[in-house]
Amino acid sequence: MAKAAKTSYVCSDCGASFPKWQGQCGDCGAWNTLQETVDKPAPAGGGRFAGYAGDAKAQAIRTLSEISAESAARSSTGLGELDRVLGGGMVLGSVTLIGGDPGIGKSTLLIQALALLSEKMSALYVSGEESAEQISLRAQRLGLPSERLQLLTETCVERIIALAQQHRPKVLVLDSIQTIYTEEMQSAPGSVAQVRESAARLVRFAKQTGTSLFLVGHVTKEGALAGPRVLEHMVDTVLYFEGETGSQFRLIRAIKNRFGAVNELGVFAMTDKGLREVSNPSAIFLSRHEQQVPGSAILVTREGTRPLLVEVQALVDQSPLGNPRRVALGLEQNRLSMLLAVLHRHGGVGMFDQDVFLNVVGGVRVTEPAADMAVLLAALSSFRDRPLPTDLATFGEVGLAGEIRPVPNGLDRLREAAKHGFTRAVVPKANAPKKPIEGMQVVAVSRLTEAIDAIA
Ligand code: TYD
Ligand code: MG
Repeated sequence: MAKAAKTSYVCSDCGASFPKWQGQCGDCGAWNTLQETVDKPAPAGGGRFAGYAGDAKAQAIRTLSEISAESAARSSTGLGELDRVLGGGMVLGSVTLIGGDPGIGKSTLLIQALALLSEKMSALYVSGEESAEQISLRAQRLGLPSERLQLLTETCVERIIALAQQHRPKVLVLDSIQTIYTEEMQSAPGSVAQVRESAARLVRFAKQTGTSLFLVGHVTKEGALAGPRVLEHMVDTVLYFEGETGSQFRLIRAIKNRFGAVNELGVFAMTDKGLREVSNPSAIFLSRHEQQVPGSAILVTREGTRPLLVEVQALVDQSPLGNPRRVALGLEQNRLSMLLAVLHRHGGVGMFDQDVFLNVVGGVRVTEPAADMAVLLAALSSFRDRPLPTDLATFGEVGLAGEIRPVPNGLDRLREAAKHGFTRAVVPKANAPKKPIEGMQVVAVSRLTEAIDAIA
């Protein structure tokens, strides 16, 4: 007789499994994440990893040099910004996970890309969320080529794979992985075990047949992809779709990519005709003020391989509180506190009785230390109620000793600033260009005091 189905408790964060329920996951320490799952024992023979890595035939050990190093074959998705985050086009046979909040535009992006791809290869869109009519209506409204795009509304992974075996699409989209279930398990769709097992089957199918697979994943309240993190380990590329509510701009970011650089950024605008590419993002994140305003500094940051101009705004105001506030949106709060300490110790400007608010305009998140100079100059400008010159851009890391440290790709950043009409730049000494840049006056500084003097 077959063994009875076993009940276990699986952590929705890390995927660890326990025989009994407990309040805290013993593996990752998260609270209230254990969910009951019923799994059936694997069928005899052909374990769950049979044929996992590509094909079923046994592999021999070889040296690296024996393996012909063909670069991965890529195909353009027809959307330049999506190609960019994928590392220069979709890699054939790769598996990509796209996460993001509900309503951010994941389905829209993928139907657009897939419709364009269907013109040159067979493409199948599997939806577990919307009806075929809804999808077709949307494609029509967006004016997408729909003659060759194949559509399937189905949530059972076994049936999806069986149909895909027949039709052999070269690219397959699954919207969304949380709605898919496998008949092998009794737990509800969307539960950890279901998501993990269904995804594993699809990944295996994609790798065996060389199909490019896009999985859509929902994001939890905390901002992580729902389902266990193992999903991120299984796939080649993880993309996150971000955007401010109320803003039409959508950023798509690679946080893992086996075929390209991470932190590459693609920019789209959501319009009534779907997602439109924004190929010159500096122009949109930069709000040019009519007249000079205090507390605004232009930062040249870098996202992936491309420089981006953003405005850093600071408001320094007399605090009614004994413990003044330090609020940073789009930047790291601890870094702000640290920079204010450096400003006092090495620049002689104290803001102990002031609230300091900091914001990066346009909902951009800046994580690199190159933002330090812009933060300090913006705070100083607001504190003194003296605007910075409107044609001034800056970047540079500020060290605890009050030194200005160089940042990567200084020349690229300066060129981008010059391209957008900035004529002055305060930059770290080591980033000063060897040859002058036309129309750009570069002030190279090595100490914080020099930077403060430069804007006096
Ligand atoms: P959708 O792709 O369905 O989001 P997701 O799959 O990530 O949940 O996007 C839905 C949102 O996008 C919806 O709020 C309306 C908006 N939208 C437009 O503004 N213009 C359009 O042309 C389309 C198709 C959607
Ligand atoms: Mg959707």
